[in-house]
Amino acid sequence: MKTEEIEIPHSLIVGCWQLDDRSWTSISEPEIERAIDTYLALGLRCFDTADIYGRSESLIGRLLKGRDCTIFTKAVFFGEVPTPSQVRNKIETSLRYLKQSSLDCVQVHWHNPQLDFSSTFETFNQLIEQGKIRTLGVTNFNTPMLKQALQLAPIRYHQIQYSLIDRRVENGMQQLCLDHDIGLLPYGPLAGGYLSDKFRGVQSPPNQGSHARGFYYSSMVRAHGGWSPVLALLEDLATVGSKYNLTIAQVALNWVLQQPGVAGVISGVTLDRRQMQKNVEAMHSAIAPEDIAQLTARSQILFQQPGDIYSYERQ
Ligand SMILES: NC(=O)c1ccc[n+]([C@@H]2O[C@H](COP(=O)([O-])OP(=O)(O)OC[C@H]3O[C@@H](n4cnc5c(N)ncnc54)[C@H](OP(=O)(O)O)[C@@H]3O)[C@@H](O)[C@H]2O)c1
Repeated sequence: MKTEEIEIPHSLIVGCWQLDDRSWTSISEPEIERAIDTYLALGLRCFDTADIYGRSESLIGRLLKGRDCTIFTKAVFFGEVPTPSQVRNKIETSLRYLKQSSLDCVQVHWHNPQLDFSSTFETFNQLIEQGKIRTLGVTNFNTPMLKQALQLAPIRYHQIQYSLIDRRVENGMQQLCLDHDIGLLPYGPLAGGYLSDKFRGVQSPPNQGSHARGFYYSSMVRAHGGWSPVLALLEDLATVGSKYNLTIAQVALNWVLQQPGVAGVISGVTLDRRQMQKNVEAMHSAIAPEDIAQLTARSQILFQQPGDIYSYERQ
């Protein structure tokens, strides 16, 4: 069984975790509508959401209805092994919220590696055969989990965290994906926005608990060595940027895009139109391989890479 490959215009996917208003600053619906319209006007057609992102699925389902777009969603499993009907109900709910008759791509997140996921993938195979799901992916699977999943179902994409700070994917996962023709979909390419001019020279990251970076990415920065290497990296990014007339964020995005096996980069919703435009332009910037390699080498010196994909997050 071979599922479809998805075309990703500009190799850029709009991340919609930011639309979850339970944890993050609430963005109003008119603001979201304007942002989505701007992304569409810039030629972006792919959006990433999840069953666990609150109103995100239902909002984008409504706003993208009738548009020629691709939606990557997730089926997230915490707790015990779900029954087949629990898996089916999850997919039916996503179909309803996203207003689709077939989900473009479902990425499975399985939280507890001690629990056997084979029966769940069996149900996913049936859902693919029934036409309810067109393409299957996974997210945050570590290397042994992906090897096992490959025996069970046609996995086309793996959504993983990947940036100049977090390169754990290179500890075996990237090669495994290359060997099996699985496209990498990096999230957090800007570490939630820390990798941008906004934070250059800022001596400690501001306390921004209502922004994803203040929660998810500040603990990631701590796990990889702290804030001072980030400040050093921002200077290196600025140096490369000045050579090409690019911002720090543009260089950071382009570095991720140029890594082997990357099928598309996921960057989260911003309301800043200029940032959206810059991000699209970043995907078409021709940063020379020697400058990319120099940033890779600096990142190697500045940051630790503790273990496999999603290792400390799972604890
Ligand atoms: N599978 C998983 O476990 C998992 C985990 C995390 C995220 N994700 C997915 O991946 C998506 C992307 O992750 P992310 O949002 O953390 O990605 P990111 O690209 O690292 O960060 C995006 C944030 O950076 C800021 N930004 C965007 N463009 C910028 C620019 N040009 N200059 C300066 N700042 C800029 C924006 O915040 P401001 O404009 O507010 O500053 C934006 O919300 C999420 O929305 C979600 O869909 C998945």
